[in-house]
Amino acid sequence: MAFWSLSSSLPLLGLLSLLLSHQTSLITTTNVRLAILQKPIDQPEVANGPGGSNFSVFREAPAFRNGETCGSLATDRIHVAMTLDANYLRGTMAALLSILQHSTCPENVTFHFLWVRHEHEVFSSIKSTFPYLSFKVYIFDVHRVRGLISKSIRQALDQPLNYARIYLANLIPDEVKRVIYLDSDLVMVDDIAKLWKVDLGDKVLAAPEYCHANFTTYFTETFWSDPYMPRTFEQRKPCYFNTGVMVMDVDKWRQGNYTKRVEDWMIVQKQKRIYQLGSMPPFLLVWAGNIMPIDHRWNQHGLGGDNIEGKCRSLHPGPISLLHWSGKGKPWLRLDSRKPCSVDHLWAPYDLYRSSRHSFEE
Ligand SMILES: *[C@@H]1O[C@H](CO)[C@@H](O)[C@H](O)[C@H]1NC(C)=O
Ligand SMILES: *[C@@H]1O[C@H](CO)[C@@H](O)[C@H](O)[C@H]1NC(C)=O
Ligand SMILES: *[C@@H]1O[C@H](CO)[C@@H](O)[C@H](O)[C@H]1NC(C)=O
Ligand SMILES: *[C@@H]1O[C@H](CO)[C@@H](O)[C@H](O)[C@H]1NC(C)=O
Repeated sequence: MAFWSLSSSLPLLGLLSLLLSHQTSLITTTNVRLAILQKPIDQPEVANGPGGSNFSVFREAPAFRNGETCGSLATDRIHVAMTLDANYLRGTMAALLSILQHSTCPENVTFHFLWVRHEHEVFSSIKSTFPYLSFKVYIFDVHRVRGLISKSIRQALDQPLNYARIYLANLIPDEVKRVIYLDSDLVMVDDIAKLWKVDLGDKVLAAPEYCHANFTTYFTETFWSDPYMPRTFEQRKPCYFNTGVMVMDVDKWRQGNYTKRVEDWMIVQKQKRIYQLGSMPPFLLVWAGNIMPIDHRWNQHGLGGDNIEGKCRSLHPGPISLLHWSGKGKPWLRLDSRKPCSVDHLWAPYDLYRSSRHSFEE
């Protein structure tokens, strides 16, 4: 709340960068890929370690076992969906570790990973870092979405994998009825079972909501001057939500053909350019003001800073269950460059990357 009242008083550029910092972000940075996939040059003994060519640059996580209460019938299997990308693997590993570590019933969590192609290094890294993990991988066919993506003002937002969440409901098995979708640049610091159990009412999505958003700036003049399009927001509160953390009733999503509804707006965008950003505006067009709002503790977003300079951001007051580095700066890059923001020290304990020293220096 405080965040939006603050941003509405900023000039347009500041506002746009704040908007962007709310947007989920899959940056394709060659350096990151190299940093993750190349064996550490200064540690040849590690590079030649056990496992040979499929050796992981990540340390093995401890085995997390269920608490005593987990065998009861009341325990649900928790389904979590994330994307999988070599560029973001270090973030994914930290997210996985944080979820398992804070979970009372870690063995009852199943992960559904969406990726664009089978990458052996990525797959074997997950396997060797989390040997006990219950997970499945699904290929997300980028051809389906590529033709629908129009250039946004930040290239990283145009990555097809950024749009995978729109197709999630149709990729995972039909018997899965509810899913928690999570971005890869976050850590969970609370039991995910609490998020899993939120009441969706008759809604399809649950997420923290910010209802002081000014939608005027989200969409272009073409959108607002159209006789029909603005009517989509009639009877709806202008509530923004970050699409990086969502509880989804994927059953209702399938029945309501919501994938098509989001795609339909992307087709309009392709023809008329009705917004400047990436995958977030079509989500807002379909969902804004019509989701189940949940406690803000479940997505303390924007910790990556704005998109132009990635400046440091401090935490908002209040309890926190999930920390999300949306925005330009990523904690692993800032820690490696030895110019971390203070919030990045909250991410470091979950870093499983072998050659990172900061996690041992704490
Ligand atoms: C959760 O794990 C326990 C083992 O500790 C198992 O007995 C139970 O069936 C699991 N529950 C679900 C819903 O998978
Ligand atoms: C690594 O490669 C060996 C031999 O090819 C194979 O037996 C082993 O399962 C692989 N390990 C992982 C984690 O993929
Ligand atoms: C929303 O933004 C537009 C354009 O920046 C401005 O004209 C309008 O007054 C704003 N509305 C509110 C309620 O702040
Ligand atoms: C969803 O799409 C299917 C097939 O295109 C159609 O039969 C069904 O009526 C649609 N459902 C809704 C709620 O629009």
